[in-house]
Amino acid sequence: MRHKKKQNRMHRPKTMAQEADRHELYQRAVQSPDADVEFFTDRFEQLRNRPALRLREDFCGTALLATTWCMSDPERTAVGVDLDGATLGWGRERNIDPVREELGDRLELIEGDVREAEAAPVDITCAMNFSYCVFTTREALRGYFEAARRGLKEDGIFIAELYGGTEAIDILEEERELDGFTYVWDQERYNPLDHSTTCHIHFDFDDGSRIEKAFTYEWRLWTIPELRELLLEAGFADVRVFWEEVEADEDDDEDDEDAMMSGTGEYVEVTELDENQESWLVYLVALA
Ligand SMILES: C[S@@+](CC[C@H](N)C(=O)[O-])C[C@H]1O[C@@H](n2cnc3c(N)ncnc32)[C@H](O)[C@@H]1O
Repeated sequence: MRHKKKQNRMHRPKTMAQEADRHELYQRAVQSPDADVEFFTDRFEQLRNRPALRLREDFCGTALLATTWCMSDPERTAVGVDLDGATLGWGRERNIDPVREELGDRLELIEGDVREAEAAPVDITCAMNFSYCVFTTREALRGYFEAARRGLKEDGIFIAELYGGTEAIDILEEERELDGFTYVWDQERYNPLDHSTTCHIHFDFDDGSRIEKAFTYEWRLWTIPELRELLLEAGFADVRVFWEEVEADEDDDEDDEDAMMSGTGEYVEVTELDENQESWLVYLVALA
């Protein structure tokens, strides 16, 4: 009897969630490395009047962006830094090995803390997908920004992404259907006393299965003025804000107040705004 049970379990087909790979789903759901490379290239050229060749991707995870950077130009090099050896290993196997021949030794991965990792100076350092929000005190975040500045060439720039808006401090779940799965962003907790927040990413599948809490983040949701102040305190000379433009969804009228708006992936520099949005994304660009 016991033997039979075991056999049944062995032959039970796997659910879509069991077959899926959370890093692959993450990359497809939240990363757009080609658009990031284009934004970095254009901003650097515009601000520094020369091409950017060397990138440091802090909190690089699977190093998809650093790999894409190197593949965009044979003269480009990159360094990726992340604490998590297993995630770096996944990136090495899945993102880097397949293009190893073309990449040569142009991409270095460092397993370590972004505040301590040492690498040859870069034109651009980036901290994408709000990763620096793991630093929850002014001292800790300033310490990271100081380290980021130290790692730059004299005319280098630091780029960090931030999200915000009236919905950013709400408890909510937001779903986005993608090819073969649904991405779920879950803002589970937000504390107005210290802006600490707990967010999860889940992945849902057509067979009803789910990867629950595929990724969990414990962050402080910083504001643009706080980041600007800390970047200046860390020694950066100037901080610019590039705001993602939004447009009404296909079925909605642009002038309708209730129209559903979505990000276009295009960013424009802003210095004055007179209203908030439900949700927004910005790149902060700090000049050394
Ligand atoms: C939100 S993921 C970002 C992945 C990728 N950079 C992206 O843009 O989607 C955060 C990553 O930061 C890493 N991390 C957290 N604290 C770190 C630290 N102090 N130093 C280096 N990496 C850190 C985690 O291991 C994780 O891979």
